[in-house]
Amino acid sequence: MAFIEVRDLIKIYHTKEFNVRVPALRGIELEVNQGEFISIIGPSGSGKTTLLLVLAGMTEPSAGQISVGGVRLDQLTEDSRSLYRRFKVGTLWQIPNRNLIWEINILENVEIPLRLLGVPREQRKKDAKELLSEVGLEKRLKHKPSQLSGGEVQRAGLACALAHNPVLLLADEPTGELDSRTAGELLKYFKHLNEAHGITAIMVTHDFDVAKSTDRLIQIVDGRISGYSPTEKLKTIRDMHHVYLDRYGGIQLPRHVVDKLKVQREIFIDEEDGKVVLHQNNSNDVKKAKK
Ligand SMILES: Nc1ncnc2c1ncn2[C@@H]1O[C@H](COP(=O)(O)OP(=O)(O)O)[C@@H](O)[C@H]1O
Ligand SMILES: [Mg+2]
Repeated sequence: MAFIEVRDLIKIYHTKEFNVRVPALRGIELEVNQGEFISIIGPSGSGKTTLLLVLAGMTEPSAGQISVGGVRLDQLTEDSRSLYRRFKVGTLWQIPNRNLIWEINILENVEIPLRLLGVPREQRKKDAKELLSEVGLEKRLKHKPSQLSGGEVQRAGLACALAHNPVLLLADEPTGELDSRTAGELLKYFKHLNEAHGITAIMVTHDFDVAKSTDRLIQIVDGRISGYSPTEKLKTIRDMHHVYLDRYGGIQLPRHVVDKLKVQREIFIDEEDGKVVLHQNNSNDVKKAKK
């Protein structure tokens, strides 16, 4: 059994004000192994944040199954979900003041989750210092977030996210506000912590260069997984030739392929010599015309 198993996950938001229901996740199927570092990439509005929120226990799925380290999130009560969220998950958001408290220094920030766990003062200080030096901030312990650069703030946020020793680290566009050099540096620390702590990590991004630094890339489009690939040999997102085939036989064609189709609603399928070929025209009609 994989560490994370997601089956037919559906999330529908109900906006009461306008009485509309928005399907944000439309049958996500996903498996992530323990210790893996994966990225989720996709256009804006495709459901990336929603998937993270469900995995973080911050919102309830509408249907489907989701298990993390053997815990079935779709079956948890509100109280158990809150415990799961607090003890099992570390989160890093794009906007720094969601990760850190601005009025206190970063050492005190990292101590907070440890204090909630009841770790005694001396041990707490030691652990927090250790984590902050792991992200290269040993000389900045007494600085408040406002006294640090954008990259340092996100690194402090990362230390904070890991302080309570979570089993799952979830990051939502953590490099979104950083330039590419600083983003690269944050990713280096991210990868180091993922490896050193053996923690399973999922990072959402819309930036292919960021996604490339993870082990495996999952693409989501319109609330469904459309493709996935190990990142090793990928040069561009179009090199991604793995298309996800779900249990119901469904696949989602890449956007650039769909855009080239003349007829959007109907295509024809041929299966020959181990190949599955999709045609714009009915190949039987073409064969008949040739005769
Ligand atoms: N709280 C919400 N209420 C209603 N609709 C939402 C809410 N959050 C997100 N959505 C909608 O769900 C879809 C997916 O959103 P989101 O998960 O934020 O996508 P992404 O992170 O990929 O940009 C979008 O259509 C968005 O407008
Ligand atoms: Mg988002």
